[in-house]
Amino acid sequence: MAQRWILPAYDGVDALELVEADLRAPGAGEVSIRVTAAGVNPSDHKGLSGGWNADPSLLPLGIGQEAAGVVTAVGPDTRIATGPVAVGDRVVAFKISGGFASEITVVADDVFALPEQLDDIAAAGILHVGVVAAELLHLSGAGAGDTLLVHGGSGSVGALVIQLAERAGARTIATGSAESQDRIRRLGAEPTVYGEGLADRVRALAPRGVDAAIDAAGTAEALDVSLELVSDASRIATLAPGPRAREAGVGISAGAAPASIAFREPARAVILELAASGAIALPIARTFALEDAPEALRHVATGHPGGKVVLVR
Ligand SMILES: NC(=O)c1ccc[n+]([C@@H]2O[C@H](COP(=O)([O-])OP(=O)(O)OC[C@H]3O[C@@H](n4cnc5c(N)ncnc54)[C@H](OP(=O)(O)O)[C@@H]3O)[C@@H](O)[C@H]2O)c1
Repeated sequence: MAQRWILPAYDGVDALELVEADLRAPGAGEVSIRVTAAGVNPSDHKGLSGGWNADPSLLPLGIGQEAAGVVTAVGPDTRIATGPVAVGDRVVAFKISGGFASEITVVADDVFALPEQLDDIAAAGILHVGVVAAELLHLSGAGAGDTLLVHGGSGSVGALVIQLAERAGARTIATGSAESQDRIRRLGAEPTVYGEGLADRVRALAPRGVDAAIDAAGTAEALDVSLELVSDASRIATLAPGPRAREAGVGISAGAAPASIAFREPARAVILELAASGAIALPIARTFALEDAPEALRHVATGHPGGKVVLVR
């Protein structure tokens, strides 16, 4: 029997139920994985109220889009994204539905061999935010010689944007709360606090101007300040789709957009390689037991988790 968190109705985190059920045996093109760690994302929480998709046919909904663990069964004639696979292999899966579970059966194309340098907790949390960070950097075009403003540099997406931008040769100025300033500095960016007066604080740090901006926080202020400081709106990228961003011609990273899907799918293997080589690392804020998934989701929904949150078993 496998344990899994399900959402029987789009009634928010309090509606979640931990249930036991037989695990479906993998068919062709599928593998089963004993989950050891599952990344917790803000979108997991947002989806519980049906914010962007309240499709009743998806209920009961499995929660969790990424998980690491050990292969327990392989469907006939099945390879994973990185090649052949066998029972006992360490793997990570993204993008899946239902990662908050003790064991899962998932599509093998979304499963990657886990490099031995990468532990399960690090691997379970890095793919979702990693591919979004890579897409945002790509959309902004930021590279060598550029000064890049990163909104939400203390968040999981923002922390990876900072590291990827540094690899690309950009100078980064990143926003966070007062409590997050040291953490941002350790990531390699020049920190400043978000909130009133942000544009002036950034001007003081970059008197010669800001070439590009990435909104990894999703706030109105991030878009406003970006549009105020960056003369070419096509050098601004956001992960918060909205009419103003569209009208302004800002680059948008959105999970359901065909262009984002096309960018993110191949980016998964790249992010894993960068993490395995130590070129990027995602700060882990807290781990929770699988049984405490609702508490983990509430913690992430505060908007200030202080790093990545991962469920462990
Ligand atoms: N479009 C997509 O496909 C996509 C994909 C992934 C994520 N997202 C969204 O992107 C956002 C960030 O994701 P994440 O995983 O990085 O979340 P996270 O780790 O919780 O980070 C949240 C970030 O937002 C900052 N923040 C909180 N309140 C703020 C405010 N009032 N003004 C400015 N910044 C503020 C936080 O700073 P402090 O902690 O320092 O306060 C932190 O840097 C979430 O809203 C998530 O849903 C969208």
